[in-house]
Amino acid sequence: MQERILILDFGSQYTQLIARKVRENNIYCEIHPYTHIPPLSQDIKGVILSGSPYSVNDPDAPKPDLGPIRGKFPLLAICYGAQLLVNMDGGKVASAGSREYGRANLSYIDTACPLFKGVPSNSQVWMSHGDTILEYPAHFHVTCSTPDVKACGYSIENEPTYALQFHPEVYHSVDGFTILRNFLTDICRCQADWTPDNFVKACVEDLRKEIGSDEVILGLSGGVDSSVAAVLLHKAVGKQLHCIFVDNGLLRKNEFADVLASFKGLDIEVTGVDASNLFYSALKGVTEPEAKRKAIGKTFIDVFEAEAKKFKNARYLAQGTIYPDVIESAPVKGPSQTIKSHHNVGGLPEKMNLKVVEPLRALFKDEVRRVGRSVGLPGRLLDRHPFPGPGLGIRILGEVTAPKAAILQEVDAIYINALRQEGLYDKVWQAGAILLPVHSVGVMGDERTYEQVVALRAVNSTDGMTADWSRLPFDFLGRVSNEIINKVRGVNRVVYDISSKPPSTIEWE
Ligand code: XMP
Repeated sequence: MQERILILDFGSQYTQLIARKVRENNIYCEIHPYTHIPPLSQDIKGVILSGSPYSVNDPDAPKPDLGPIRGKFPLLAICYGAQLLVNMDGGKVASAGSREYGRANLSYIDTACPLFKGVPSNSQVWMSHGDTILEYPAHFHVTCSTPDVKACGYSIENEPTYALQFHPEVYHSVDGFTILRNFLTDICRCQADWTPDNFVKACVEDLRKEIGSDEVILGLSGGVDSSVAAVLLHKAVGKQLHCIFVDNGLLRKNEFADVLASFKGLDIEVTGVDASNLFYSALKGVTEPEAKRKAIGKTFIDVFEAEAKKFKNARYLAQGTIYPDVIESAPVKGPSQTIKSHHNVGGLPEKMNLKVVEPLRALFKDEVRRVGRSVGLPGRLLDRHPFPGPGLGIRILGEVTAPKAAILQEVDAIYINALRQEGLYDKVWQAGAILLPVHSVGVMGDERTYEQVVALRAVNSTDGMTADWSRLPFDFLGRVSNEIINKVRGVNRVVYDISSKPPSTIEWE
């Protein structure tokens, strides 16, 4: 039985980070919203309560019944979780006055508490809460304090329950990882055997059982997720897997041929479909970003469906859904506002009467990469920057046409190759070029030019939710700009985007 840790989410921005830190210990964990506590089976080795944007004193504050958990499973309550237990047991939580936010140091640590094994005195922790614990019940014992906060951490008599008002999961809590590891290995007694190799073994077995002798179709995008999903499925059902790769005319330069070649090398069956012209026709006259996404998405479904129908015995549609997509579809506080619609295969499985199979739905992106490495996918494929489903279609601002796509492919190829050659590709999270619907005056030789402007974008991020613009060296940008203007006809000016997300987004459309 796969041991696991349950994380109850109260809506904190750090909940996913807790999950990642647990998994970095080779321990499987799942996030569930506090409103939907799953059955508490014996494979659960411990429970973690997350932080929250709520105050426990809010009239609509989340207060689930923790009766089935407390005293029965090791419990670690973080921030809001810590304040919630105090509130539930009759203590007092109130506004911290000036918010307790930022760095603090542990002036007291109870060295007998197993949570703090190996944590030095004065260790720096990260606080982020508006409330604080003012009075704690008599059966609560303080395990750590800062100069301003006495009950910074506590344990509860006669139950394996520990609480922290600071965030051990964030980088600025210097010994946070040790504290979490102590909880997981010493208190929950986890075996820590959830490695990529073990995941592959279990996943391939499960896929084999689920799919049996049926056939499976998978849409390849050339990206990491669908590639890793393809390899896992191929290991499980071999020739029963049929991959379809659609060229929408909005891929990077040479990408269609490159992806087909790498899958041929892996002996995985891929049907390549060049549908560029269909996509360009669907995009004719369309300028509004969401309308472009919809046109691309709909054309993709039409092309994919027509191809998939050729595999008459297919019963399954495999998708490269990963864990953040799963969690985001079960949010704590209503669905978040759609800023950009990111999913362009929606509606396909129902329409085609296929069952969905999602081998990666439990994994974070970095875990997908590790699994990919463990099944022998080449680094060049795994360490690729994210690339949006609608491709260059949302990087050609305004109407998309074949000649514009050709210009942008050249510009993008020069930029990305230069990043690789100068060792910068792996230092940025995502990079790309944007073709602006703006002409500017230039001079080439003795001639006046009036051509298009491109913007270069590079960002550093961990998950794309927030991002900072990358400080690429000026000399590098200068060289790339020269090369683009000299080699790509139709472009006479290059600018660099220095906006962060928020308030900007990574893509321009
Ligand atoms: P934004 O522009 O929202 O991008 O800051 C965040 C991340 O999502 C990618 N992105 C998309 N991916 N379909 C996708 O599959 C889309 O329509 C789409 N729009 C943005 C973007 O490249 C970045 O990695």
